[in-house]
Amino acid sequence: MKSFDQIFQANRSWVRKKEMLDKDYFKKLAMGQQPKYLWIGCSDSRVPETEITGTEPGEIFVHRNIANLVNSNDPNVMSVLKYAVDYLKVKHIVVCGHYECGGVKAAIDNLHDEYLGDWIVDIKKTYKTHKKDLKLYGDERTLANRLSELSVVKQVEKLCDTAIVQNAWERGHRLFIHGWIFDITTGKLKTLMEINPDNLPDDILEAIGGEKV
Ligand code: CO
Repeated sequence: MKSFDQIFQANRSWVRKKEMLDKDYFKKLAMGQQPKYLWIGCSDSRVPETEITGTEPGEIFVHRNIANLVNSNDPNVMSVLKYAVDYLKVKHIVVCGHYECGGVKAAIDNLHDEYLGDWIVDIKKTYKTHKKDLKLYGDERTLANRLSELSVVKQVEKLCDTAIVQNAWERGHRLFIHGWIFDITTGKLKTLMEINPDNLPDDILEAIGGEKV
């Protein structure tokens, strides 16, 4: 048996399982999507968002790239963000990083590689900014994991700076933004930060011309 035959077999058994629980499952699925979440995660095969969050098809709109980066010059992530916020009207955006991230490690090693080296330039910058403090960790693993966290926080801040998100808040769209990290060694998700639309930081309020009540 070829390895991909196994995938088709598993697919057919998944279809049977779903239809056994609800014979109209796929008819309903085809009618449309109303996901509450936009997930921006790493392409890493060990971080499958639906599996680790116990969610079903239709619940999470997904964008994944190497090291879960939000680069405003990346039309891919920006079009996903635009569609999720303006059309699907998601309630939550999650940036989820993870420990043992190859993209983060490559940034620490200052990898030069066509495409890859350029892609992770934002993490290289974060590393440079925090290098002094990060070096205090001593062991490379803890250092890299901490850099993963710092990068997630930065991606959340970058999301808050986008016109897409700011316009949504200006319109009164109650959009939460979360920074999470997935610990591959335990399987657990951890919250790093949360931006609550009812309690926006002053600098964001100023940017969108709103006032604190
Ligand atoms: Co990764």
